[in-house]
Amino acid sequence: MPSRSVVSSAFALAALFTAYAASAQSIEYRPDAKLWVIQAGNFTYAMGVDERNWLQSLYWGPRIDRAGDIRAAHSLPERAAFDLPSTTTPQEYAAWGAGLYTEPDLKAIFAGGNRDVVLEYVDQHQTHDSNSQTLDITMRDIKQPVVVHLFYRVYTGQSVLERWSTIENQTKEDLVLEDAASATWSLPNLENRNYRAHWLTGRWAGEWQLQSASLEVGSQVIESRRGSTGNQANPWFALEGPDAADEEHGPVYFGELGWSGSWRITMEQSSFHQVRITGGYNPFDFGYRLAPGESLTTPPFYGGFTDGGMGEASRILHRFQQGVIIPGAPHPKLRPVLYNSWEATEFNVSESGQLALAEKAVQLGVERFVIDDGWFGQRKDDHAGLGDWYVNKEKFPNGLKPVIDRVHQLGMDFGIWVEPEMVNPDSDLYRKHPEWAINFPGRPRTEGRNQLLLNLARPDVMEYTYRWLDDLVSNNDINFLKWDYNRNWAEPGWDAVPVADQKKIYVAYVNNLYAILDRLRAKHPKLEIESCSGGGGRVDLGILRRTEEVWPSDNTDALDRLSIQDGFTHAYAPGVMMAWVTDAPHRKTPLKFRFLVAMEGSLAIGANLNNFTPEDMSTAKDLVAFYKTVRPTVQQGLQYRLIAPSRPAAPSERAATEYVSADGARAVVFAYLHSQNFGDPYPLIRLEGLDPKALYRLRPLDPNQLRSPQEAGGSYWMHHGLQFDLRGDYDSTAVVLERQ
Ligand code: GLA
Repeated sequence: MPSRSVVSSAFALAALFTAYAASAQSIEYRPDAKLWVIQAGNFTYAMGVDERNWLQSLYWGPRIDRAGDIRAAHSLPERAAFDLPSTTTPQEYAAWGAGLYTEPDLKAIFAGGNRDVVLEYVDQHQTHDSNSQTLDITMRDIKQPVVVHLFYRVYTGQSVLERWSTIENQTKEDLVLEDAASATWSLPNLENRNYRAHWLTGRWAGEWQLQSASLEVGSQVIESRRGSTGNQANPWFALEGPDAADEEHGPVYFGELGWSGSWRITMEQSSFHQVRITGGYNPFDFGYRLAPGESLTTPPFYGGFTDGGMGEASRILHRFQQGVIIPGAPHPKLRPVLYNSWEATEFNVSESGQLALAEKAVQLGVERFVIDDGWFGQRKDDHAGLGDWYVNKEKFPNGLKPVIDRVHQLGMDFGIWVEPEMVNPDSDLYRKHPEWAINFPGRPRTEGRNQLLLNLARPDVMEYTYRWLDDLVSNNDINFLKWDYNRNWAEPGWDAVPVADQKKIYVAYVNNLYAILDRLRAKHPKLEIESCSGGGGRVDLGILRRTEEVWPSDNTDALDRLSIQDGFTHAYAPGVMMAWVTDAPHRKTPLKFRFLVAMEGSLAIGANLNNFTPEDMSTAKDLVAFYKTVRPTVQQGLQYRLIAPSRPAAPSERAATEYVSADGARAVVFAYLHSQNFGDPYPLIRLEGLDPKALYRLRPLDPNQLRSPQEAGGSYWMHHGLQFDLRGDYDSTAVVLERQ
């Protein structure tokens, strides 16, 4: 007789398999109907070739199990002389030609002056590897051999469809691409009722503001023209169906780009209420010359659908990032607790000062010690030094080694700040190579924070940058780089190449940045990297393939952070989000409040520990220890936004979030009250994602802040709710639920 545990694990496996099989991934081609049905986990996506040989979108939405029910595409008739089929057909990838008035995916100029491109279907083929399946559909212009490959990829166990394209010039003359999007996503036309669009905007020290509005006829454009992803908008969108109910229920279509340069996403509703989302390279100032035989590949545009509201849409993206995108996927490492003195000491770093902080940090349970800006060149403030990546001997007379050795002795690993793409005019590098800065010859060079950008598109600059980074990491025992980028582009000239190629800087720069990161990572497999751009200016799925973590904002005020983190986690996983406890720069908030907010991501400390009282040290130590018990659940579990903090459209004086471990055995709830009006009691909080039949025992951070039984079933916590007792201003608490 098999033992009980064998039987029960066989049962569990069978249950798992059924759940998995019901939402498996596949790409099926039906040659009879010339259509493709893509099963991407919990949703279905379909497209087909019509009688004109155009590729049309057929379906995007909840899973349709009988793929055979999806019918072939048919050409649309002319609606009016003003609304030709090229505009009314929901094309998968519309080239500008034949009377297209909606947002194009592709716009080109041929050497002879022709600007008309019409793509028709040629053929398809599919490939697969151990965890993904890819479809490549070949399209070609009706007259000239301009070939476009449309790629569709699904990943095992993920409910995300990845799309991108490659444009090949097979003609005998140059072709200039003025617009090259990754893909267009068409939404179902739901009876003239509007979708609700969500997108993220911001500014330096105020990123990740969740904007929400009805998508009316016309276009809502989000973009960056800055050369990098930008703090002002993020390449993510979500559209809630007109009948969406709440955070956890209702249809949501969503997507995000994997590109760290200028980008654009256009959410468009036509006069016929067709909604399309087109995204990729920003066509503003775009011009990419393809010589005969050359091609251009566009960034990936990932998309998904769920019936589980904005909450599930976020969790699908978090799971996808953890499972596919982030270095180490599908099992990325947990983020260590980090200390960084930037906000405490700014440029005033020294061997003795950093060592004193390291001795204190380790007492709190810190696992990684990072020296920020100020350690190199003639760097006293932000006027000089960028570009001169040698150790400043006044601050570190013995080099970095004594600090690194001591940090290791204390049991922490060591990281350092770099800003490799920048140069101060007051630097040896700039004096030697002024031509390396991005500029238009003879024109002013606009500075930002007294610095200019190095033109990474130049092979010599790329090589130089890689070399000194490799030396820095090879010659010192460095585990971690905080890679910063503190301004946007101005005067984006590249005079080392012919005029016809100068606008390629937008693509070449970013590809070379990726190449440096990839090379560095390949040579130093243990190295971890954080992407920072004066805060959250370079967060996207392109950089996240190469960096374990990102810095969401230079604003570390805990109350502002609640909103910032709320916006951030709509698009990105809590595990990649660095969150520092600092000295409360804008307003005074209790240390515990600051710690709990920072625990909702990758916890770090940036406060001046020299000013910590013994009581602060002991509070901090206890809270770091508490964090370590919930770290895997927060960083890699399922996140539920129970009470949203203040958003641009809806102020709130409370916030609560829950994280449930992937195996459902543990949950942690964080709750905040920033100002108690009229002495109102804290509302009951209904939890999500628990096993309704299982028993959960509470482990509160502070039992005095809880008015609930110590133990109850999942359905009690989910339907009756959890009762906290929070009072006054900036009160906060947390509780762990453990399945018995
Ligand atoms: C940027 C970063 C900060 C800090 C400074 C250093 O602003 O976002 O965290 O590293 O640069 O100059």
